[in-house]
Amino acid sequence: MPVYSERLRAALFLAERAHRGQNRKGREVPYVLHPVSVATLLFAAGADEDLVCAGYLHDVGKLVVDRDIINAPYHINAKQSSELSRHPSAGYEILAPIRHPYADIPLMAKYHHERLDGRGYPDGLVDEQIPLGAKIVSLADSFDAMTTDRPYRRRRSFEDVVQDLRQNSGKQFDCTVVRAFARAMLKEVTGETKERRIVKMLGKGYLDGEKVPTLLTDLIADMERAKRPVDQEEQQTAGA
Ligand SMILES: [Fe+2]
Repeated sequence: MPVYSERLRAALFLAERAHRGQNRKGREVPYVLHPVSVATLLFAAGADEDLVCAGYLHDVGKLVVDRDIINAPYHINAKQSSELSRHPSAGYEILAPIRHPYADIPLMAKYHHERLDGRGYPDGLVDEQIPLGAKIVSLADSFDAMTTDRPYRRRRSFEDVVQDLRQNSGKQFDCTVVRAFARAMLKEVTGETKERRIVKMLGKGYLDGEKVPTLLTDLIADMERAKRPVDQEEQQTAGA
């Protein structure tokens, strides 16, 4: 891993040791393990170092949120959800005064819960208003959430995850970003690349099913169709 992101990883490891504490039920709670897996996923998918760093730092605003909400072993209620939704703006406030080699990191943190359809937060931005880096972190964050066991649910099957990405592309996720990520996974499962970072990260068997290459190929094709400009579609229809 490149130098700056490697230093960040070390700093977060130390921060976790320092901040690791207990919630009200006496259970030990880590602060940073989840961002580490998002950063690792971005690195595995071949993202540039600024994105890997944003993967580490995007949830730093959770430091201002009650630990019991962050680590709740159940679905949180509306009031708790509203408290949790402060974290992107809080993260921006924490990161903006720091001199980073990558100046876009604070904005990636601020906008990683925005959605293309304007139903995200904190600012309800739409597609072209959301920085590309924030869209990429958003996808990695959601993919990580869907493919990781959480205290209140098991991770979802890969088929289920692919269907979620398909249904939410153009609404929550950017089709171009989904396509690039699916391509990175397909290269690994077909052996086009020797790297098997994503496969390893997801654990034995998760990306090894017979259906996986077809699921990814179909998803990529759907994302290409979805991203095609309207006038091009019309020309093709007229010429058919
Ligand atoms: Fe977040």
